[in-house]
Amino acid sequence: PRVQVGIVGAGPAGLLLAHLLAGEGLEVAVLEARSREYLEQSPHRIRAGVLEWGSKEILAQAGLGDRMLVQGLEHRGVYLAFDGALHRLDFPALTEGRSIWVYGQQYLVQDLIRLYLEKGHAIHFEHEVVGLEALEAEPTLVYRTPQGQTERLVCEFVVGADGSHSLLRSQIPGAQVHQKTYPFAWLGILAQARPAAEELIYASHPRGFALFSMRSPSIARNYLQVPVEERLEDWPDARIWEELNRRLEGVAQVEPGPLLEKSLTPLRSMVVTPMQHGRFFLMGDAAHIVPPTGAKGMNLALCDAVLLYRAFKAYYQQKDPGPLEAYTPEALRHVWQAELFSYFMTTLLHTPADPFDDGLRQAHLRHLGQSPHLQRFLAENYVGLHTSGRY
Ligand code: DHB
Repeated sequence: PRVQVGIVGAGPAGLLLAHLLAGEGLEVAVLEARSREYLEQSPHRIRAGVLEWGSKEILAQAGLGDRMLVQGLEHRGVYLAFDGALHRLDFPALTEGRSIWVYGQQYLVQDLIRLYLEKGHAIHFEHEVVGLEALEAEPTLVYRTPQGQTERLVCEFVVGADGSHSLLRSQIPGAQVHQKTYPFAWLGILAQARPAAEELIYASHPRGFALFSMRSPSIARNYLQVPVEERLEDWPDARIWEELNRRLEGVAQVEPGPLLEKSLTPLRSMVVTPMQHGRFFLMGDAAHIVPPTGAKGMNLALCDAVLLYRAFKAYYQQKDPGPLEAYTPEALRHVWQAELFSYFMTTLLHTPADPFDDGLRQAHLRHLGQSPHLQRFLAENYVGLHTSGRY
């Protein structure tokens, strides 16, 4: 068999690209190592939950947003908590009317899978790609079928959207990997409990940062800054709730509820460059990682998908290879913008060990609390990388 675009990975980026390309009549194959059930539930991993204004617009325009628009929660601001007080950032006022949407990545992936199959296209679940050959001429995906056979798929182009543990990343000869680790991890919980407030609270506290988010009005998604060497065994549920409430002192309180999930994530940044070689392209977490503060990861992956969609469209419909050739520099503009914002949010909100660093951080935070100029920087980045909201 032979296809025009072989996409490796059925996460948000791979699936959005597949929808957009198949919508133009291109022959697309999607290969995904995991099962459909795993992708849709994946209770063992922290997954994203915030869609920027532009991500929401693009999904809605592509006909992929029906459930998101009904079940997702529109948020018109966030709270910062510091010095024992809440400070609200009003997104529409700071960004010419934009807001964000709280909608879990798992729900989005469920929607993208269901709609893709309903349109009559196939997703090859449990097809694990184990190699990639002939990148320059006839890129060929080598994969294992669910029955354990090794087979090959010849493609005109291959897109690696295979996540942060990407196997395909190593296929770009001479690629540079720019990395940064932060001396923090997040202990995250998903709980059957009322969220701390009607909007997200980013709480800076001498004991460490805490984030109070949600997935619905009855499901809370909360995080605690912890040292990187922390162990989950040392955090029984009661200790987590107690610590969450200590970091919320004076501004709000949360009522404990049953935990649905508990996990630890070290914070890091990574950028791979170039993001392409020959007829092969990387996108999403396979190409870049941001620390979670500010919720850019999934939005950044969706940006890559839109760029690659436009580039393939130019190639196949106008015979113009220019946008495909320019993919890396184009993508890196929004990648570095997201790295900058995620770094900004991480250093602004996490309590560092060094008292001098902490003094600078608190000065920055207090200035932000009073300055509409600094608030605009935060709000503009928070609501959006896709500035046009179109694909
Ligand atoms: C969530 C995660 C984030 O990193 C963030 O900045 C906001 C919300 C979340 O999982 O809900």
